[in-house]
Amino acid sequence: MDLRPYIKTERQLKEGIDLINSGLLFYQPFILADDVEVGEGQNFHDQYQDVKNIHDLNVYAPAHDVGNRTQPADLPKFRQCNEEYRSLYEYVVKEIENRNGGNIKDLTFAEIGCNTGLSLFSLAKKGAKSCFGYDWNDMHPVFNWLNNVLGTNVGFRQAHYDNLYHRFMEGDVPEVDVMINTIFTNHQCDPIQFLSYMCDRARKGVFLWALIDADRPEACIVYPNSPPHDILDTARPFPLYFNNDVRMSEKLLHITFKCLGFDEVETISPFVPSPAWQYFQTGFRMYYAKRTRDMKSAYWHSDLSIKNICTLDTLKHLLVRLGLRPVLKKLLDYKNLMQGKE
Ligand SMILES: C[S@@+](CC[C@H](N)C(=O)[O-])C[C@H]1O[C@@H](n2cnc3c(N)ncnc32)[C@H](O)[C@@H]1O
Repeated sequence: MDLRPYIKTERQLKEGIDLINSGLLFYQPFILADDVEVGEGQNFHDQYQDVKNIHDLNVYAPAHDVGNRTQPADLPKFRQCNEEYRSLYEYVVKEIENRNGGNIKDLTFAEIGCNTGLSLFSLAKKGAKSCFGYDWNDMHPVFNWLNNVLGTNVGFRQAHYDNLYHRFMEGDVPEVDVMINTIFTNHQCDPIQFLSYMCDRARKGVFLWALIDADRPEACIVYPNSPPHDILDTARPFPLYFNNDVRMSEKLLHITFKCLGFDEVETISPFVPSPAWQYFQTGFRMYYAKRTRDMKSAYWHSDLSIKNICTLDTLKHLLVRLGLRPVLKKLLDYKNLMQGKE
């Protein structure tokens, strides 16, 4: 997003530069000023050539303190790659609008793995009823800053989708009309469990941009043979070790959507801003799935099983769902008593 028309004060610009310096703002493409720009565009365009660190070649701000990182040498190229990358997000938002008859004013949206919330902020600027993001990194400072700059009210909660429990241990994600999930399932060792979680909380539709193995006719998940990425952590124990390059076959994706109540699944034509993006858009495919039946996954039903009551937040949610607010009150009174509170 080009923020130049919105950043009105020196203070807003400084806060944005501080967010770059803190390591939060670098991945999604934003222009803050004529000489301050961020985005992963060049790395995707050049397939991470010569990159050894996740903070390399995604920030151009030579006149400012943005930490110890390699900045791009060729500004016009960096700018062009991010312009192309930005056009992919614009395409995502346009396609979401198109699939909803061009009117998003009555729709609520959530994005899991939202990073700095580019799609959510774009939808909010276009008048969406509400937008909410979740990410395991604490993006509150970025969301606060963008809401201030853009005059929006996009919500955020730091939340870790746990691939061992197939849920968010900090508390449940509430239902919305449309769930968005982009460039995320490739980082999850159990993508169909994640899709179950997300679809269970989508009343009307799901926009998915996911790494797909389109060559396999069977329903399967394809894992990389070796550590898939030099600059991502591969030290986590198996199966969390598989934290990138996890591909679903298209067949599996369709079965998953169908079994979760989404019979209408549209494959969105790939948008290729320039030839270098062909490889990226061939791997990462976009889909819009519409809910046609009121179906939930086994995980939804097993929410009530005792093994999942791991945190107070989960327990609170469960008691509210069971209509046991008086029990919840007693529990909280007891907790406060034990902690010496009034
Ligand atoms: C490749 S980025 C994609 C971000 C954004 N959806 C986009 O397309 O620009 C993946 C994002 O998911 C977040 N993420 C990865 N695994 C996660 C998990 N298990 N729980 C919550 N967030 C996660 C990362 O912090 C990151 O912001």
